[in-house]
Amino acid sequence: MFSRRTLLVGGTALLAASPLRTLAQSAEPAIHVMKDPNCGCCSAWIDILANDGFAITTEASAGTLLMRYKLDNGVPQEMVSCHTGRVDGYMIEGHVPVADIRRLLVERPDAVGLAVPGMPFGSPGMGPESEREAFNVFLIRRDGAAEVFSRYEAA
Ligand code: CU
Ligand code: CU
Repeated sequence: MFSRRTLLVGGTALLAASPLRTLAQSAEPAIHVMKDPNCGCCSAWIDILANDGFAITTEASAGTLLMRYKLDNGVPQEMVSCHTGRVDGYMIEGHVPVADIRRLLVERPDAVGLAVPGMPFGSPGMGPESEREAFNVFLIRRDGAAEVFSRYEAA
């Protein structure tokens, strides 16, 4: 599954082969995830990160409380998804692929973090990649502006 994703995302594949990535990977990044305990897709995403070596802690939150947490930490309303992770000072909103999180931790841009707004079908934790709809991963700047960090085409 990982090699297939690597093939699909050319730029990320190059980065994945760099020694920097190996360093980041061996560090087992710690991510803290706020999630609605009644939402299953968050758990599916967490499992994918766990399989990739992330050290994960979770905290139950939902509704306006969870929304408040997102907004207070710089995730703009239009970037919102279900769960919200924090890794190394960066916010990770929604079903962001592991490869993008690892790239973020290597490149370390001055930014709030990454987001996959909504819940695109076929994004990690949201059903089979083979039936994926196209989606973008956005980099959220500190002024709230979002730019495309990577793009996943429809399968
Ligand atoms: Cu979700
Ligand atoms: Cu969810």
